[in-house]
Amino acid sequence: MLTLLSLVLVLALGLLQPTPVCALTGQQIAFALQAELSSGSEVVLTSNTSAYPAKNFTPRYNIATPPTYTVAVKPALAVDVQKVVQYALHNNASFLATGSGHGYSTSLDRLQAGIDLDLGFFNSIEIDTVAKTMTIGGSVSSNDLASALQAAGMEATLGQCGCIGYPGASLGGGIGPYSGLYGPMSDSLLSAEIITGRGQLLNVSSTQHPDLFYGLKGAGFNFGVATSLTYRIYPATNGGNAMLAQMIFPGALNQSVWQIVSNFTASNQPKELAIGLDARYVAAMGGMVVMANFIYIGPQSAGMKVIQPFLDLKPANLNISTVAWADIPFKAFYGGIAEGGCTAGAYYVPHSLNLYQIDVPNLVEVFNYMNKTLATNEVLQGVAIAMQQYAQYGFQLQDAKTSAWPYRDVVSFVQIDGVATNPSQLPAVGKYGRKIRDRLHHGSGRKDLQTYVHFANGNESPAALYSAAKLPGLRALKREYDPARLFSWYNPI
Ligand SMILES: Cc1cc2nc3c(=O)[nH]c(=O)nc-3n(C[C@H](O)[C@H](O)[C@H](O)COP(=O)(O)OP(=O)(O)OC[C@H]3O[C@@H](n4cnc5c(N)ncnc54)[C@H](O)[C@@H]3O)c2cc1C
Ligand SMILES: *[C@@H]1O[C@H](CO)[C@@H](O)[C@H](O)[C@H]1NC(C)=O
Ligand SMILES: *[C@@H]1O[C@H](CO)[C@@H](O)[C@H](O)[C@H]1NC(C)=O
Ligand SMILES: *[C@@H]1O[C@H](CO)[C@@H](O)[C@H](O)[C@H]1NC(C)=O
Ligand SMILES: *[C@@H]1O[C@H](CO)[C@@H](O)[C@H](O)[C@H]1NC(C)=O
Ligand SMILES: *[C@@H]1O[C@H](CO)[C@@H](O)[C@H](O)[C@H]1NC(C)=O
Ligand SMILES: *[C@@H]1O[C@H](CO)[C@@H](O)[C@H](O)[C@H]1NC(C)=O
Ligand SMILES: *[C@@H]1O[C@H](CO)[C@@H](O)[C@H](O)[C@H]1NC(C)=O
Repeated sequence: MLTLLSLVLVLALGLLQPTPVCALTGQQIAFALQAELSSGSEVVLTSNTSAYPAKNFTPRYNIATPPTYTVAVKPALAVDVQKVVQYALHNNASFLATGSGHGYSTSLDRLQAGIDLDLGFFNSIEIDTVAKTMTIGGSVSSNDLASALQAAGMEATLGQCGCIGYPGASLGGGIGPYSGLYGPMSDSLLSAEIITGRGQLLNVSSTQHPDLFYGLKGAGFNFGVATSLTYRIYPATNGGNAMLAQMIFPGALNQSVWQIVSNFTASNQPKELAIGLDARYVAAMGGMVVMANFIYIGPQSAGMKVIQPFLDLKPANLNISTVAWADIPFKAFYGGIAEGGCTAGAYYVPHSLNLYQIDVPNLVEVFNYMNKTLATNEVLQGVAIAMQQYAQYGFQLQDAKTSAWPYRDVVSFVQIDGVATNPSQLPAVGKYGRKIRDRLHHGSGRKDLQTYVHFANGNESPAALYSAAKLPGLRALKREYDPARLFSWYNPI
């Protein structure tokens, strides 16, 4: 009787439920990490209004849906990073590694009151022109790397925006104008020093932990933190210079532009040519326009021959010049990418998809739809379609089986950029961006939505980001190297 009564009481009071683990306070975490990390490391409470701003932690580019932190840490050494990961593992604490802070997926805001593991001290660049390799720290920016490589007479695939973290970009692939020659950045990765979700410090390459090496090249941020990475680099093409041709086409010419672009797909696109397009509403030009940005990796005279069909359309604005390889991110799209993409604190809603064909009627339809719907809505005029069309040559140099990077057959990597000027506009901008993405999907050449992981919104299925074919293998790798799922805040598999 007594026993039964106690049982009833126990049930009623919920005492049989597992004891809730009290979350550690920021104070406790900071105190513990301060005691463990080497003296060159920084550990601060983000609530410390004097110390935190003074330590220059890497700001986030996109503050629309950011993660939040109670503690910010800058480890000095790889073993310090290992201690933070082990601490998180043993104490059920949450952290996110920060490279250059340009990851913008909406998935990031699932991390609240976590630890910022800022890799800012891992900023070294070593270039070996004889071995044709470079070894860089886990947070080196694309711009810093580019100027060092150019000075050494070398080059590599860079992204369009110079302020992104090169390691961060390459762990998801990393694409840009020189992908037509060299494929995604991840194809040039030779080895990495990484701290896994089990807290192990490993050297990873095609001969050491090759299974993890495969995963690092396209899905890397799911398995650990890379403190040092070594890549193949290439002697500068054309003396380290390229043609940059920028032009603006009035809306009336949109169909002609898409038609010529559709002619440049597959083997018709010379490996030296990268096509960038940006369709947006410009009230001063009376509606939708198409901005075009061509990079030709060779002499200007040869480049102009290749883009002659576009020149024949007589764009409203034209500027053709020869620029140093490392300056491309500063000058492309009339400097717009450097200006917009290097200023932290944007309210940005990403949407994106891969096109496997150029469907001219579909593009005309979407273009006309935007022209009609944006005329009376100034807020939504911050939504634009950006298309990157790189030559197939570079993507075909390595077999699909060599890495997690799943998108070697993409014709155009499309972003529907949703830029708001204040947070109240975010819902409308997001809704419209999604609508445009869905309309473009009809002409994508694939039934299922597929998109490049770094351009993703974060609300897509993992199969859309990593491909249905590769996902099971990546999930098996996850169980092996990050069973506690410490690395799951950014577009998780
Ligand atoms: C304006 C702009 C332009 C862009 N243009 C391009 C482009 O042309 N081509 C392209 O491919 N991408 C482009 N991107 C996307 C870019 O590749 C991603 O945003 C990438 O995540 C940037 O890395 P980061 O270190 O700056 O970001 P962070 O936000 O610091 O990191 C993003 C994710 O990667 C992880 N991470 C970063 N560094 C490491 C590391 N060393 N080890 C383990 N995990 C790490 C982080 O933990 C996080 O999960 C662009 C982004 C922006 C904002
Ligand atoms: C803030 O940081 C400074 C410098 O590290 C430290 O001296 C001070 O005690 C901190 N303040 C609080 C409230 O933790
Ligand atoms: C770990 O922490 C999360 C919240 O941060 C909590 O939901 C979860 O129950 C904790 N797990 C354990 C085993 O304590
Ligand atoms: C990784 O390789 C580097 C360079 O060869 C070496 O110095 C380091 O000790 C290795 N680390 C581990 C954990 O094996
Ligand atoms: C796009 O091109 C088509 C075909 O030439 C044309 O009918 C349409 O008006 C153009 N759209 C805009 C917004 O100018
Ligand atoms: C497409 O390419 C073919 C062959 O190179 C060429 O004859 C034709 O004029 C091109 N069409 C357009 C619209 O550029
Ligand atoms: C595009 O929008 C502008 C501005 O509203 C309008 O003047 C123009 O007629 C539109 N073009 C087409 C083809 O509908
Ligand atoms: C043309 O582009 C180059 C490279 O960005 C730039 O230096 C130059 O000033 C531009 N010329 C004009 C007239 O805008």
